[in-house]
Amino acid sequence: MNIGVVGLGYVGIVSLACLSKMGFKVTGIDTDQKKVDALKNGCSYIYEPGVDKLIKDGLKKGKIFSSNKINSSINDLDLFLVCVGTPSKADGSHDYSYIENVTKEIAICSKKLKHKKVTVAFRSTFQPGTIDKVILPILDKYKATNVDVVYNPEFLRESTAIDDFFMPSRIVVGTSDGSASKHMNQIYKSFDAKIFLTKFKEAEITKLIDNTWHALKVSFMNEIARISETNEINISKIYDIFVADNILNISKHYLRPGGPFGGSCLPKDLRALESLSKLHKLNNPIIENISLSNANHQEYLVNKILHRTGKNKKILFCGVTFKRNTDDLRESPWLSIANVLKEQNLDFDIYDSYYSSNKTNKEKNTFLGPISENIVSINDVRNSKYDLYINANNSIVDLGLKSTNTVLDLNRLD
Ligand SMILES: NC(=O)c1ccc[n+]([C@@H]2O[C@H](COP(=O)([O-])OP(=O)(O)OC[C@H]3O[C@@H](n4cnc5c(N)ncnc54)[C@H](O)[C@@H]3O)[C@@H](O)[C@H]2O)c1
Repeated sequence: MNIGVVGLGYVGIVSLACLSKMGFKVTGIDTDQKKVDALKNGCSYIYEPGVDKLIKDGLKKGKIFSSNKINSSINDLDLFLVCVGTPSKADGSHDYSYIENVTKEIAICSKKLKHKKVTVAFRSTFQPGTIDKVILPILDKYKATNVDVVYNPEFLRESTAIDDFFMPSRIVVGTSDGSASKHMNQIYKSFDAKIFLTKFKEAEITKLIDNTWHALKVSFMNEIARISETNEINISKIYDIFVADNILNISKHYLRPGGPFGGSCLPKDLRALESLSKLHKLNNPIIENISLSNANHQEYLVNKILHRTGKNKKILFCGVTFKRNTDDLRESPWLSIANVLKEQNLDFDIYDSYYSSNKTNKEKNTFLGPISENIVSINDVRNSKYDLYINANNSIVDLGLKSTNTVLDLNRLD
């Protein structure tokens, strides 16, 4: 089976690399020429551990191709995996303009299909109803009768994406009538995970529910941490006791008291569910207040830092990406907190596992904004003395600090 992966961002490039390892021929398609060129040259434009090696192996074995157009290869492909972005609009709902463009392009190209159909599986995160209201009308408009639509949400997490791809908690495949898809079966037949077959809407809401639940777990435990810390209760103990109950309290993931949630998915998809709830004039105070709780937590951490710092202290702030081992800065709470330190005119350097070793990558550094001038290399850190080390995204583990160093660990409240 030949697969086209549309969108070579965090989800697309990982899918492409993993599918090539499984032996499929995969064409990576992106309108951003930088991403296409990086793939041609045997690497990924975005950073995700392990992906470059899979790409190099795939290219060597002749499994990976690249293009900046969907058009060029449609007759060679059996399946498209669409992994383009669905960022937030001002009202919190998802912006489907990238999805609309891709659907239109595929619809137009599908006219060229000779005696065959193509399956188009959308892996981007959608609000329920998107396939019915956005995608199918475009396919109808262009009379794209050779296209089978599938919705297959992706559950991977950045920084552990390859493992998550091959070992998903479960697989969800949505089709118009809830029946199986021949092409998705070919991908998933060797996976050790339960496959749920649903209609489109059930598959679409699955991922929004997951991300909202994770955001709720993070916020819930951070509220418990704030109450515990203020009452001199050892939150580490509370955490250990709470997560030991894996019958009623379920998994311990996303429950460690520490940083606010952030990244490209949780805040965006929480807003999307909130906006859906508001659209239908539902009164859902739990969901509507998760973001507020998260913002309160960020403010709490900033106050904690300001309490420990002052004009005469030299600080090393460790980590600005939303988690360690990614270059992704989208909605990173650590980046926001670093910007507050800047506004407060504190004397601080930043060490970040990714950005400190890629200091010369001017293009990527522009995403950091004004704090890019505070980024220092690991050698600079070793040649400096700091009064306080602040652990934000765990980049601090690279530094091998001594027990005599003073650390404020925002990533673990205990
Ligand atoms: N990042 C994650 O951890 C993650 C996990 C699960 C699901 N998701 C969801 O997957 C989707 C993609 O997320 P991402 O983080 O990979 O996004 P991203 O912004 O990193 O990548 C999207 C890519 O699509 C490309 N693109 C846009 N229009 C295109 C077009 N017409 N043709 C070809 N390429 C085009 C962009 O150039 C970009 O490279 C989103 O809906 C997101 O919510 C993300």
